[in-house]
Amino acid sequence: MRILLTGASGLVGAAFAQAAARRGHTVIGIVGCWRGAIAGVTESRPVNLADTAAAQKVALDVFPDALVNAAAVAEPLACEMQPDLAEKLNVDLPGMLAQVASHLGAPLVQLSSEQVFAGTHAPYSVHAAVSPVNLYGRQKAEAERRVLTAAPDLACVVRAPLLLGNSLRGRRSLHEKLFETWAAGRAARAYIDEFRQVCPVGNLAEVLVELLERNDMQGVFHWAGTELLSRHEIARRIARHFNLPGKLVEPMTRADCPEISARRPANLALDLTPLVGKLKTRPSSFAAGLEELIVPPPFRHWYHTR
Ligand SMILES: NC(=O)c1ccc[n+]([C@@H]2O[C@H](COP(=O)([O-])OP(=O)(O)OC[C@H]3O[C@@H](n4cnc5c(N)ncnc54)[C@H](OP(=O)(O)O)[C@@H]3O)[C@@H](O)[C@H]2O)c1
Repeated sequence: MRILLTGASGLVGAAFAQAAARRGHTVIGIVGCWRGAIAGVTESRPVNLADTAAAQKVALDVFPDALVNAAAVAEPLACEMQPDLAEKLNVDLPGMLAQVASHLGAPLVQLSSEQVFAGTHAPYSVHAAVSPVNLYGRQKAEAERRVLTAAPDLACVVRAPLLLGNSLRGRRSLHEKLFETWAAGRAARAYIDEFRQVCPVGNLAEVLVELLERNDMQGVFHWAGTELLSRHEIARRIARHFNLPGKLVEPMTRADCPEISARRPANLALDLTPLVGKLKTRPSSFAAGLEELIVPPPFRHWYHTR
């Protein structure tokens, strides 16, 4: 398949490109600022996806067999800081890509997030009503609605959890942000009462490729790892994996920062049916995800000289 992949330079996009290339697909990747090589991407095109008309022109020009939308303003804080840009990337872009998918008769995978839920009634099934508590979650929920309205017979919306993995810049993912804090001389404070079902990004990427290849499953799906862990336990296990002292991770509770916590879902456990019973790819353990992590390149000097 010729797959048009937006967000090819992102955490999910770069992992998807590798997984798709391993299966023999051709990936045409759209990037924003990134200009380096991306493993698995045959052709890389810089496009400002906030310009919906320009993005549509490129998508029609590529004329792909399938589309994967992994471009986004993908962090809640970044959405709050640049709400207009986030609206274009997180809502307008997926809506437009779904129209293109419908026009081409091509399957589309839209990346969504566990953050469409409030975190008060876990575990969440695919049938649960969305209940976002922050702008990012509201935008992802609206994107889901637009995608499924424009391409109901072609689109898969995959709600992903917090992801483990190595990003191209070494500063995007969970363990990379922990390293950034540690290298700045600080301990990381992590919630003991906020729970996530973390998934390795490579495992998610295989699910996305499998969904595209099958092309008989449309609608909303959940994917996540096998364990529900507190943020504190997640950070503690990451520190231990890299032989770093436990004192680098300090516990905190949601009650310590009530204003911030109100916009952070507490428990985002996901029920993975029906996807988990229908795919060859199995959910991954947290330990398996840890094995794939490398010391992020920007912090190697700190790590080896500390
Ligand atoms: N990471 C997670 O833990 C997680 C969890 C659940 C769901 N998700 C979802 O998965 C998807 C991918 O997230 P991610 O973590 O891979 O994001 P990411 O690492 O932050 O990457 C974002 C991607 O979007 C591109 N992009 C942003 N603004 C752009 C613009 N104006 N024009 C063109 N490209 C632009 C970036 O390109 P450049 O870098 O080249 O500028 C990059 O490729 C998102 O839908 C997100 O909501 C992520």
